[in-house]
Amino acid sequence: MSDGVRLERRGSIALVTLDRPERMNALSRSVVARFGEIGRELEAELETDAALRLVIVTGAGDKAFCAGADLKERAGMSDDEVRALLVAYETELGWLETIGVPTLAAINGAALGGGLELALLCDLRVAAEHAVLGLPEVSLGVIPAAGGTQRLPRLLGEARAKELILRAARLSAPEALMLGLINQILPKGADLLLEAQSFAEPILDAAPLAVRAALKALRGALTRELRAGLALERAEYEACLKSEDRKEALAAFADKRKPVFRGR
Ligand code: COA
Repeated sequence: MSDGVRLERRGSIALVTLDRPERMNALSRSVVARFGEIGRELEAELETDAALRLVIVTGAGDKAFCAGADLKERAGMSDDEVRALLVAYETELGWLETIGVPTLAAINGAALGGGLELALLCDLRVAAEHAVLGLPEVSLGVIPAAGGTQRLPRLLGEARAKELILRAARLSAPEALMLGLINQILPKGADLLLEAQSFAEPILDAAPLAVRAALKALRGALTRELRAGLALERAEYEACLKSEDRKEALAAFADKRKPVFRGR
């Protein structure tokens, strides 16, 4: 029983799949709750075991990554239930931008409303050629409520974010790539997950502690003024300085061979 979300391991990757294709993988209350449980499970695992190196989030089928709020469920909810769900978006989905390893959204189809907001919580986004992306909430009488009005301007700049949200625009994958909303388009007919994994391969090849340190510094950049950001960067460099992997990289360079990183 997946409760609408499946967790699988593929080597050092945790694959989280929204699994309600009959509802375009929409975010029902139980999906949001299960997503949170999975996040806590992965965070706990990282505390004791550094084997996990990447989280990929995707959707079942090829039509939708996630069509946002479950509009059928929403129609029967009281105002207080909706308010509680908005809080749950933050508490149950938010781990995607704080967990200690990079998170990648493999957008296999439509990513609309909360679906795009879920992808915006990830560090990186790749999308199938036929994907459609947008925050159409104002056309439904509401506004993005899982961080869209805050994260989109940080990612794309104020003018683009205002344009997309106020005009309830639906972007094609090439348009999204041009704006920097996604990092790469995955070719038509290709195995999306294999392509997403190959996009992530350089991350898995790099020194694990360095990836984690770089990620912390990068995530910290947007919430700090420059001097504080530079201090954070130095502190994170310090975390790498004494690592075995750094010594291994220097030795491998001298020996003209590929380094073997152990995450220590
Ligand atoms: N919540 C609940 N059910 C949804 C849904 C959502 N967000 N989005 C789609 N579905 C359901 C449809 O009602 C339909 O169910 P039915 O077969 O019982 O009628 C089924 O999923 C298939 O949807 P359909 O629209 O026929 O598929 P499509 O391939 O033509 O289009 C989408 C797919 C995702 C582009 C389209 O469904 C859509 O635009 N959905 C709304 C997305 C949205 O506005 N989200 C923002 C919420 S704030």
